[in-house]
Amino acid sequence: MTLHKTALAGALFGALVATPLLAQTEIKIGYALAPESHYGVAANRWQELVEERTEGRYVFRHFPSSGLGGEREVIEGVQLGTVEATIVSSGTLANFVPETGVFDIPFLFRDLGHARRVLDGPIGQDILAQFDDVGLVALAWGEQGFRHITNNRNQIASPEDMAGMRLRTMENPIHLTAFQTLGAAPTPMAWPEVIGALQQGTIDGQENPLSVIVSASLNDVQQYLTISGHVYSPAMLLVSPMVWDTMTEEDQQIFREAAAEAVGAMRGFVDSVEESGMETLRERGMDVGQLSAEDRAAFQEALAPAYEQYYTSYDRDQIEAIIATE
Ligand code: PAF
Repeated sequence: MTLHKTALAGALFGALVATPLLAQTEIKIGYALAPESHYGVAANRWQELVEERTEGRYVFRHFPSSGLGGEREVIEGVQLGTVEATIVSSGTLANFVPETGVFDIPFLFRDLGHARRVLDGPIGQDILAQFDDVGLVALAWGEQGFRHITNNRNQIASPEDMAGMRLRTMENPIHLTAFQTLGAAPTPMAWPEVIGALQQGTIDGQENPLSVIVSASLNDVQQYLTISGHVYSPAMLLVSPMVWDTMTEEDQQIFREAAAEAVGAMRGFVDSVEESGMETLRERGMDVGQLSAEDRAAFQEALAPAYEQYYTSYDRDQIEAIIATE
């Protein structure tokens, strides 16, 4: 009996020594929208590739639908290391690296291809690198698409149609200036409060890309959608330096390459929702209008005083280089 127990203990000890415990690092990833959104698609692809290529040494745990709070709070968590990764809009990024705000200038980009070439090119990559100085590792630019206005008051064809409109904006000074200049009554607000504020009628409307309007079913709380495309909405894949600095260079490379592939999946989602989104929202009962080229020109003209401000805050040569990018 005693001999048998000793043999068993010996065998167990041998098995433990032969199979070293797998060291796993958990990557808590927070994002604002549902798992089925463009954020969820990107986070899933990132996870899949990292987990496979590190053979499970890194394991992602998702906190979708603002499960860790608003985007500003999550970014602060990434700085502190209480959150390991996030995918966020450019909403609050200019509060961390002001240079990021240049991409929030209204009517700057002609189309998605133009925006992607600028963000993937030297101007975009140079701004990503500046995040090192504020305790964030910025791995890649993602995107949401072009932003459009939804509201419960009226369809919009001219800046006058927005007079006094209580419009939620992101906590983004560039957007705030634009809507103030257009004569609306903008209110910066963190995303987790927006649906409630629309339901209660404390705001008339908000603006977001089709990817968000469809994923978050804003048709449940908004009647009018105006395809204004007034500004491009970039996103960013961020990692905490607290976990980054513990990684081997090889693992850092795996995270970086996987982030670039996750962006491919995110852009694919955006391409498809840009195609189908208007029809989907019409079918869900929204009144969908679209600014014509002349209407857009009237908005740009009305924004002239805002452009003056942007030209003093941002490098004019850089703005011109962005516009000139083929
Ligand atoms: O409007 C915003 O705050 C952002 O576009 C959202 C919906 C949080 C996605 O990043």
